Amino acid sequence: MHKYNCWYQSIEDPNSRYNIGEIIYRCPKTGSLLEVEHDLEELKERSPESWKELFDTRYRKRKWPYGSGVWGKKEWVAPFIDDENIVSMYEGDTNLFWAEKYGNQIGVEDLWIKMCGNSHTGSFKDLGMTVLISAVKQLIADGKEIKAVACASTGDTSAALSAYCAAAGLKSIVFLPRNKVSIAQLVQPLANGAKVLSLDTDFDGCMKIVQEVCDKQNIYLANSINSLRIEGQKTISIEICQQFNWDVPDWVIIPGGNLGNISALGKGFLMLKNLGLIKKLPRLVCAQAENANPLYVSYLNKFKSFKPLKATTTYASAIQIGDPVSINKAINILKIFDGIVEQASEEELATSSAKMDLTGTFNCPHTGVAVTAFEKLVNKKII
Ligand SMILES: Cc1ncc(COP(=O)(O)O)c(C=O)c1O
Repeated sequence: MHKYNCWYQSIEDPNSRYNIGEIIYRCPKTGSLLEVEHDLEELKERSPESWKELFDTRYRKRKWPYGSGVWGKKEWVAPFIDDENIVSMYEGDTNLFWAEKYGNQIGVEDLWIKMCGNSHTGSFKDLGMTVLISAVKQLIADGKEIKAVACASTGDTSAALSAYCAAAGLKSIVFLPRNKVSIAQLVQPLANGAKVLSLDTDFDGCMKIVQEVCDKQNIYLANSINSLRIEGQKTISIEICQQFNWDVPDWVIIPGGNLGNISALGKGFLMLKNLGLIKKLPRLVCAQAENANPLYVSYLNKFKSFKPLKATTTYASAIQIGDPVSINKAINILKIFDGIVEQASEEELATSSAKMDLTGTFNCPHTGVAVTAFEKLVNKKII
């Protein structure tokens, strides 16, 4: 396969670029987050129709690793990884479900739910983790010394990290806030053989500690500050368009905590548009729990300022985050997509979630947050 070019680039300064084979999480010059930039001119040498055909030919097929929803788009995701270093559990290719009954109740006919959590570990985090762990295998094959891979987590990320490390034969270490992770999610890293550290702090506290540990040891950082994760997660938006026969939805609503996901979905849509596979962009909505709503507060003030806050307990425990790592990426994306931020109180998110359950769409409190945002925007006649 032709090896398309990509590199790390500061999100604040396009001239600050770094080799994709380096171990680097932030721009040493600007201190900002990095993103993986792809050589779009090189990718444009293939026509939009030909990309669509290639992706459609691979979709859900058994040819390893291209049947995976992530690796079927390898050229746009991580072209620098040799196939023999890919650690894939056939992630992605998740159902796009027509929520007809619930949509009719709300008065929105054409309502679809992308079931990103229908994945190996029960979370969309598998999409980013397959890329990150495959990149670690590539780095090791290229001579880098990496003793283990670590993350802070509210549950999902640790499940994904430990599963992919176990599959790759790598050691994993997870830092969890004590008593804030559900038993179902605590079981996964333990069963997958990770070293599990339970700390007397919240997610934001675990995030600080894991960064210090990774800075000092030869331990690789797997949180979404690591832009490789975003590359896998951006396939969600590419796949949504593919499932709509390369058409674009009008709105996409996503729950947001650390804000990697909203950044990733935006990046996928932009890449599709820049490479000519779609002609318009959707509007994006980021939905936050009222108890963990720093982006919502910033949105109310037109993103003129941002202040981290102390997130308090929410049923949507995976998004109980007051100091989101990807805040700047998320704000950039929301500005481009004429985005909206909404919030859901505990009562609202529980009610929305239960209402959807009663249409046969059993869902989690995070989805409840997105559903509340959707209902609020429909009631305001914005959607
Ligand atoms: C279970 C779960 N965790 C976390 C998130 C939020 O992702 P992020 O932390 O990247 O904002 C979501 C959003 O879909 C989610 O459903």
